[in-house]
Amino acid sequence: MQSWSVKTDVYYGQGALDRLASISNKRVLVVTDSFMTTSGTADKVASHLTNCEVKIFDKVVPDPPINVVSEGVKCLHEFGTEFIVALGGGSSIDSAKAIRTIAQESVGSKASDIPLVAIPTTSGTGSEVTNYAVISNPEKGAKYPLSGDHLLASEAILDPELTLSVPPAITADTGLDALTHAIEAYVSTGAGDFTDAWCEKAVQLIFEYLPSAFRGGDTPEAVKAREKMSNAATLAGLAFNIAGLGVNHGIAHAVGARFHLPHGRACQLLLAPVMAFNADLGNVRNGEYSVAAQKYAHLAKVLGFSSASIRIGASNMIREVDRLCRTVGEPATLRQCGVDSAEARVSIPELAAKAVVDPTTSTNPRPISEEQVVEILKKLV
Ligand SMILES: NC(=O)c1ccc[n+]([C@@H]2O[C@H](COP(=O)([O-])OP(=O)(O)OC[C@H]3O[C@@H](n4cnc5c(N)ncnc54)[C@H](O)[C@@H]3O)[C@@H](O)[C@H]2O)c1
Ligand SMILES: [Fe+2]
Repeated sequence: MQSWSVKTDVYYGQGALDRLASISNKRVLVVTDSFMTTSGTADKVASHLTNCEVKIFDKVVPDPPINVVSEGVKCLHEFGTEFIVALGGGSSIDSAKAIRTIAQESVGSKASDIPLVAIPTTSGTGSEVTNYAVISNPEKGAKYPLSGDHLLASEAILDPELTLSVPPAITADTGLDALTHAIEAYVSTGAGDFTDAWCEKAVQLIFEYLPSAFRGGDTPEAVKAREKMSNAATLAGLAFNIAGLGVNHGIAHAVGARFHLPHGRACQLLLAPVMAFNADLGNVRNGEYSVAAQKYAHLAKVLGFSSASIRIGASNMIREVDRLCRTVGEPATLRQCGVDSAEARVSIPELAAKAVVDPTTSTNPRPISEEQVVEILKKLV
């Protein structure tokens, strides 16, 4: 028997921020980063609350380290927080989730007692609906995915207006993080009919709308593209929250932490090589393709790419994914990301060792050894 449920209420579309008016007469801690305060977004969001006392904690940085979380915990206690609003990209939402959990564990109450509303301003991580939070330890060059239903936000508010200001490179990085979530969840060992439906829709939306979201602007078409990307990221988040991810994220966590790459940029570097590994087209016996190859071929068909056979469909899907990454200006190698090739080569064994034990790797459709991760990484140097 299997089951699934969605515990986060999702409010979406233009005007979704109005939902915040339902929070009244509370002491609200807004967990965010400094861009959201300097751009006026944090104040704009706070103005939607009804008669609330608001404290803005804006010390979140990309790939939030544990010391930011500790400062946030202190702030939460000192302010007497009754409600948390997480505003920003995955880094702000993950920080808020970790702050709430640690704060409540330290006073012995249930971690989900303080309601948390997540308001994503990027369309990527899906953190607004997942039970994960990724916290970094910069000294060890490591990322730690925390997990558990106590991390889930009570509500998510997806308002496309808030994502209009995302610059092109971050739009590409975050959009391709969402694509990686959908593609990994689609073939993971935890995949099923329900999550497959979410993944297929997310992949369709990302192929259709990421290029125009990347071009930016505030025309009705641009707003529509942002809205669709925001829905796609949440759909992919819902899917991987249930189905799990795979070795693409396992390697991306190690590579991203080691070379300080934005999470989505690290993910997209690995998409085509990991899909090729999972499809395993070099090892087809008696016409029996891997489940991943069959599912990539099905995705190709859904997207209208040529898929006359499983081999053709899977190969085309891998090629089109790679093409989309380059269309939105992403680097194809670590060197193009500014990483010194010699340094990258020396790090490969250590990165491979970390990737195989990353919790996300456990649901990869094809078991993978450290030596096989080394082979994938060699292609990226
Ligand atoms: N919890 C999960 O399920 C999950 C899943 C995947 C990734 N992650 C984690 O999420 C983090 C990455 O999150 P992210 O990719 O959303 O990026 P981010 O939150 O680190 O933000 C990246 C940059 O974009 C800026 N930004 C955000 N919104 C903006 C806007 N509307 N306009 C202009 N600039 C804006 C931020 O200020 C920041 O400088 C990583 O730590 C990653 O490991 C978490
Ligand atoms: Fe991710």
